Amino acid sequence: MKRHLTLGTALVVGSLAALVVVGFAAAQATGRVGSGDVLADRQRLMKLNGASWADAQAKFKAGNIEAIAVNAETIAINATHIPALFPQGSLTEKSNAKPEIWQKWSEFEAAAKNLQTWAERLRDTARTKDAAATEAIVKDFGRQACGTCHTPFRVPPKS
Ligand code: HEC
Repeated sequence: MKRHLTLGTALVVGSLAALVVVGFAAAQATGRVGSGDVLADRQRLMKLNGASWADAQAKFKAGNIEAIAVNAETIAINATHIPALFPQGSLTEKSNAKPEIWQKWSEFEAAAKNLQTWAERLRDTARTKDAAATEAIVKDFGRQACGTCHTPFRVPPKS
């Protein structure tokens, strides 16, 4: 009986391991992240940036400094995904991306990295609950972290 169980367990573990290997190979082969619609994915990510930043500003006004950290962390993680969501040839008429992105790719990547740096600084400062130090970042964040990419690389929204 004991041997039986052990053999059964070994078989189960063995087949699970095989499944994991097959799954991993499949993921590697396609290399795909996201829904497969890169434009929808990046506009969704940017909407989340917009909502996260609005929420951060509302918390700042309410004096809820430490709670800003989770919004800042969302924006920081989003920033790490930006370059992969702008592959060559993804400029369609529904997109507000400018062709300059692909002409000045290293500057675009640097702008994404800049957003990550700002967002991580905001996160770490918010965690200290220091309202004055957080304000010093919040007041420049929209312009320095988001605007420095939107100005050269995004068609401004019609308002
Ligand atoms: C590295 C460049 C870059 C950074 C940094 C960046 N954005 Fe964007 N953002 C873009 C581009 C390019 C588009 C247009 C994408 C498209 O339509 O293909 C966009 C679009 C948007 C949109 C419109 C999304 C929609 O519904 O179509 C919002 C909202 C937005 N960004 C908010 C933000 C906020 C808030 C930040 C800062 C926290 C930010 N972005 C930082 C490049 C950037």
